[in-house]
This record gives sequence, structure tokens and C-alpha cells, in this order.
Amino acid sequence: MPAIIVVGAQWGDEGKGRVVDDLAREVHIVARYNGGDNAGHTVVALGHTLRLHLVPSGILHPHVTCLIGAGVVVNPVQLAAELDELAALGVDVSPERVKLAAAAHIILPTHRALDGARESARGREAIGTTRRGIGPVYADKAARVGLRAGQMADPEAFGERVRALVQAHNRLLQEHYGLEPLPVDETVAESVALARRLRPHLTDGSELVARALAAGQTVLCEGAQGTLLDLDHGTYPYVTSSSCVAGGALTGLGFGPQAVARVIGVAKAYTTRVGAGPFPTELTDAIGDRIRQAGGEYGTTTGRPRRCGWLDLPILRYAAQINGLTELALTKLDVLTGIQPLKVAVAYERGGERIERFPGEWGAEEVARWQPVYEELPGWTEEIRSARRWEDLPEAARAYVERIEEAVGVPVTLIGVGPEREEVVRRG
Ligand code: IMP
Repeated sequence: MPAIIVVGAQWGDEGKGRVVDDLAREVHIVARYNGGDNAGHTVVALGHTLRLHLVPSGILHPHVTCLIGAGVVVNPVQLAAELDELAALGVDVSPERVKLAAAAHIILPTHRALDGARESARGREAIGTTRRGIGPVYADKAARVGLRAGQMADPEAFGERVRALVQAHNRLLQEHYGLEPLPVDETVAESVALARRLRPHLTDGSELVARALAAGQTVLCEGAQGTLLDLDHGTYPYVTSSSCVAGGALTGLGFGPQAVARVIGVAKAYTTRVGAGPFPTELTDAIGDRIRQAGGEYGTTTGRPRRCGWLDLPILRYAAQINGLTELALTKLDVLTGIQPLKVAVAYERGGERIERFPGEWGAEEVARWQPVYEELPGWTEEIRSARRWEDLPEAARAYVERIEEAVGVPVTLIGVGPEREEVVRRG
């Protein structure tokens, strides 16, 4: 034992990758539990900025075994490309180190085409997906017609299953959306080749986790996206199609709750969102632009500019409750340097009625009906990137962090003060 879960506390892009990279020094396994290559985890190391979409962020630590768990959906083209990129940097991506759970589902090119077709058909109601096939592949999984990674163990038989599913998808593309079908033989041939390549990485994922826990090793469970993009608890329908919350680590990897020792929520010192859907504290003014520039807030996967806004404390309280957070990691505090004053949402109001709870459970329409109630906090002008201890931070920055702790009821144990690996302040 134990397991540590790292979960996004907002709408994704909180900086989970760097938190996992930081914690990975002390763990044995880093296991990704949900989502697919819609995620983009940026890790700055080895003189490179690495954008990982599928391979867990612990990969740069040679002692760590990386598992892509059952709850993940895998585009084999993307996985092979990522393994190649890492190998070119001299990183060991052998099957002994990078494992793919047999129960993970496989994304085909037609899943991506269907994602795009559905988005276009929604018109102004588009979700703003990453068009990586995430919704369609999880729909096939739930409908029990999907392909599982374990089927790649027999590449030829896998190819025939790919053929049948591509043909079914093509019928939908043609008949329902009036689009061109994707080439069947080429897709099958490519899938067979990828199955041969990836087959050595296949494993029984839950057994790997169980053995590690039984041996007293630490398993770091890496979430993708964030609490408000969770299929059940996010701002539905403007969500992704997987279980992003801490509970998703248990189903997505296959182990029991008694093993969980820590649940670390990762939050930015402000809020961002990509894609459509309500965002109560969004800033569409110069301050929003400033945060976007200073924080480099452009999507890792799609390059889209992220919507930026003030920190929303009801959202963090909601995340703390749903995930059972034991602590928070606060990233990108340095981005707020020089903004005077700072604002944080502390509650919501509508027609004189005030609520303290984020109404996420009621879905996107309800969230959009409420206005945030703000509290102003003093900003700071001092450069904080060189801070390494709590005492190094300016008083106003410490007060900002303490206000978050007070409102959310969990301690902030790690603070990101710059993009480099060592630019963190650790507490307690
Ligand atoms: P999908 O996951 O591609 O279906 O997209 C559904 C919603 O989740 C869209 O609003 C996306 O922008 C958002 N989304 C998916 N993955 C990420 C991520 O890694 N970070 C932030 N937003 C994401």
C-alpha cells in the first residue's frame, strides 16, 4: 500500500502532469485511469517541453513503471508516436516499463470521424470536443460493441474485428451524416501492424496494481481532465465521456478504496476552461487576456486559446467533497503577480438568493443561471519564481493561499511558482 490519486479540481489543464512528475520520485507505479489522447500533459524536462497525451507523466523517472489503465481509451497511432518520441530522447519505453491494460478500449480513425461529425451536426450547441473520438469510443464501450486492447494479442483476429466496426461506423458516417466513408482495408492493415507493435506492452492492469500494493509499493493514480468535466458530476453535457473524479481511479484501474492514502486535487491559482459551456468567473476583458498571455493558456492538444477567469472557491469546495480531497496542489501562482486587486468567487447569487454550493450536479443550464459573488484580495508585485520556502512568498501571496485553505477546508501542500521542475514551494 498505498495508492495516491491525483485529480483535476477544475475543468482540466490544472497542471496535473507536473504534480505527478514531482511525486513520481517517491512512487513505483504511475497509472493513468481515464480519458484518452484528449488529455495533454506538459512536462518540462531533459531540455524539452514534452507533451504527453497517453503515456503517464511518471515516464521520465527511470525507476517508475507506467500503466495505461482499463478506464483509458487508447488511440494506438498516438501511443506508438509517443513511444517513438520518448525513445528518441533516450527514455526507456520498453514493455517492461510501459504497460497497457488489456481492458482499455481502442480508438479507431472512424471514432474520430464520428466525433467531428457529431460536433458539426450540433452546430451552435457544439461541446467543443477535442475531436479525438472520445465520446464515440466510450459510447461503443457502454453499448458493448467496442474493441479492447487485449484483443491485439491476436493481431489478425483483431484486424477482422476492426474491419467489422469500421464498416458499421462507415454506414453511420454515410447514411446519417452524409459523409465519405473511411478506407476499410488501409485501416485494417494499419491496425494489424499497430497490434503487432503494441502487443508486448499488454498486461492484466488490475493484477499489476494489486501486486504492487500487496508488496507495499506506492501506486500513483493519474487522472486526466478535471472534476467539472466528469461525465457524472461535471457541467453536463459540456463534459468529457469518462470518470475524471477520484472514484474513477478505482473503477479505471480496478482496486478497492481501502488502499487510498491521499487524494491530491490540483487547481490553478485562477480558473481556465477550453471548449463550450458555462464558466461563471470568466474574464473576457484585459485581465483575462493578461492571464492567458502570462500563463501560456493555449490547449496542449488542440492549441485553442483557453478561456480564463478568477479562482472559484465554490468549485474547489465541490471538488474537495466529490473527490474526498486530502490536500490541494496549487499551480501557476506566479501568473497572478502584478494583478491588483485579485478577486475570488466565494458564493453565487440569483435575484437576491445566495448559495455557497456550486450547483454542478444540476448541469450546465443551472450553473449558467447563477452569478458569482466576489471577494477582493490584495495582489503582490514581487517576483515569486525564485521562492522555494513558504516564508519566501510575499505576505499577500501567502494570504491568498490561506484564504483558499480556509474556504475549501483542505491544506495546500504544494505551490507552483513557475514552469520549471524545481519552481515549487512545498509545505508540510
Ligand atoms: P472530449 O473529451 O474531446 O470529448 O471533449 C469534451 C470537453 O472536454 C471539451 O470541452 C474539451 O475541451 C474538454 N477537454 C477534454 N480533454 C481536456 C483536457 O485534457 N483539458 C481540458 N479540457 C479538456
